Amino acid sequence: MPIDLHVPAAVRHSRLIAWVAEMAALCQPARIHWCDGSQEEYDTLCQQLVEAGTFIRLHPAKRPNSYLARTDPSDVARVEDRTFICCERQEDAGPTNHWMAPEVMRSTLQPLFAGCMAGRTMYVIPFSMGPLGSPIAQLGVELSDSAYVAVNMRLMTRMGRAVYEVLGEQGDFVPCVHTVGAPLAAGASDDSVWPCNPDVKYIVHYPETREIWSYGSGYGGNALLGKKCLALRIASKMGQEQGWLAEHMLILGVTDPLGSKKYVAAAFPSACGKTNFAMLVPPPGLEGWRVTTVGDDIAWIQPQADGSLRAINPEAGYFGVAPGTNWHTNPNCMASLQRDVIFTNVALTDEGDVWWEGLEADHGGQLPQHLIDWQGRDWTPALAQATGAKAAHPNARFTVAATNNPVLDPAWDDGQGVKIDALIFGGRRSSTVPLVTEARNWVEGVYMAATMGSETTAAAFGQQGVVRRDPFAMLPFCGYHMGDYFQHWLDMGAKIEQSGATAPRIYCVNWFRKNAQGQFLWPGYGENMRVLKWMLDRLAGQAQGQEGPFGLGPRYEDLPWEGLPFTPEAFARIMALDLQDWQVELQSHAEHFASLGERLPVQLEQVRMAWAQA
Ligand code: OXD
Ligand code: MN
Repeated sequence: MPIDLHVPAAVRHSRLIAWVAEMAALCQPARIHWCDGSQEEYDTLCQQLVEAGTFIRLHPAKRPNSYLARTDPSDVARVEDRTFICCERQEDAGPTNHWMAPEVMRSTLQPLFAGCMAGRTMYVIPFSMGPLGSPIAQLGVELSDSAYVAVNMRLMTRMGRAVYEVLGEQGDFVPCVHTVGAPLAAGASDDSVWPCNPDVKYIVHYPETREIWSYGSGYGGNALLGKKCLALRIASKMGQEQGWLAEHMLILGVTDPLGSKKYVAAAFPSACGKTNFAMLVPPPGLEGWRVTTVGDDIAWIQPQADGSLRAINPEAGYFGVAPGTNWHTNPNCMASLQRDVIFTNVALTDEGDVWWEGLEADHGGQLPQHLIDWQGRDWTPALAQATGAKAAHPNARFTVAATNNPVLDPAWDDGQGVKIDALIFGGRRSSTVPLVTEARNWVEGVYMAATMGSETTAAAFGQQGVVRRDPFAMLPFCGYHMGDYFQHWLDMGAKIEQSGATAPRIYCVNWFRKNAQGQFLWPGYGENMRVLKWMLDRLAGQAQGQEGPFGLGPRYEDLPWEGLPFTPEAFARIMALDLQDWQVELQSHAEHFASLGERLPVQLEQVRMAWAQA
């Protein structure tokens, strides 16, 4: 018998209704719930998740209106090796993406999705990436059999009834289908607190027809399809076709002591402190400066008729890594997490609050005497010492609405976006790459971004310390050929130049350089404000620098040192560019370029050759 759709009166879009009917016929859910995005709906779903054992309500006074979810141990992170870009021609996906022909993928997924929601509710989740009605925003509708996804989407996107209104009768939307891939047998109740499919996972994008299908995982970017799937992989392809940029970048506002304000967008690979940088607190000595957050992970950047670039954060919340976050590393983030948070895979204290590795720094190094770890097992400091057991999973996360952030930028919800004055690209390199370098022109800046590297720190990537090239921090997120993506960036620069406008300056930074003993040379966190200030002073024509082989860097006296005992010798170490190391680095760029094949823009190889001869 066909399932009753119960279409709400607010939904007037016949293509949407037909698609929901088609997907319901395929996935066979027991019922359909059209999300309205209200607080009441959120509270009801959270309560249902508590009753199902998926959520633990945290102590109402210590962490009001907040929950802890523990996932299946097999479902703790994005699954890059199960992520596919399914365009018609393999060469359009390029060598950095997994590819399957669309018709082959469709016939692979069809039997998996048939009956995949049996016994479960299908949530219809309407969302806007970007301020509702903004000319830069895009709408999506996610069908998911996970209430965890529905409540997270309410925090991470503009989700709810207003989207049906903007959609009207025939507005465009990106259809996204998600299932945990764990259908229930007839009459069976769900006894799993984290349903997922431990064996089969597919995160599938059809960039040409703008569709997303996700199977088998309930976690983060695999399941909250507005984030990496829509706002990066699908949107990067939209941007290429329509002349804009979808980037893995935070956006911050920075105001100087006289009140003059600039906006900066910055790309760093995953787990390199983007949320910390986006919420930075200026250190002692630079108190007059103020940093405000537009976004912590994704930027959509549109060129304007006058040649300027304006950017929005398509998200409405933060899905950040909890371990390492504390009142020293990110006080504004800690303040954001005081209430209304969904935590996933952190530890639970005996008082009903949360804990993760790094929080001991707020308690003089003191560890809690007892915790329940992310897998629901007892944890003690003695156990940790004996076995290395982590109380929180290293990729444990918080989901929180941007409006909880005490330094949220006043323009964060402005549909016109903010004007970008500088772009920063930062790899994670223990050697070779200096603290900061300003590109001499757009093409050199694109080169710096195209060759960004990140040294592997987690066992997940195999050997420790190997440089993984992560161009523009987009390696796992670019929905088309990386060579074409570089060309798109070069074209953007050429277009800005033709319009007679001044393009944003481009900077390459490396907060992660180490000495021979493996200690970080740069204190990072709030101290990064010193580097940011130099960039802004450069934009204002008020700071000097000195030319090096691949751009311009500050001299010791060009950075403000009030409040930080950092010697000229230490600064020389962190800015050093060893010419021998540099030749090795350029050779490694050549290998990286070769791996991208014929679609690598010649301009980039020309820069490489010029630098190699300099
Ligand atoms: C993220 C990531 O979660 O980049 O933002 O992995
Ligand atoms: Mn990210």
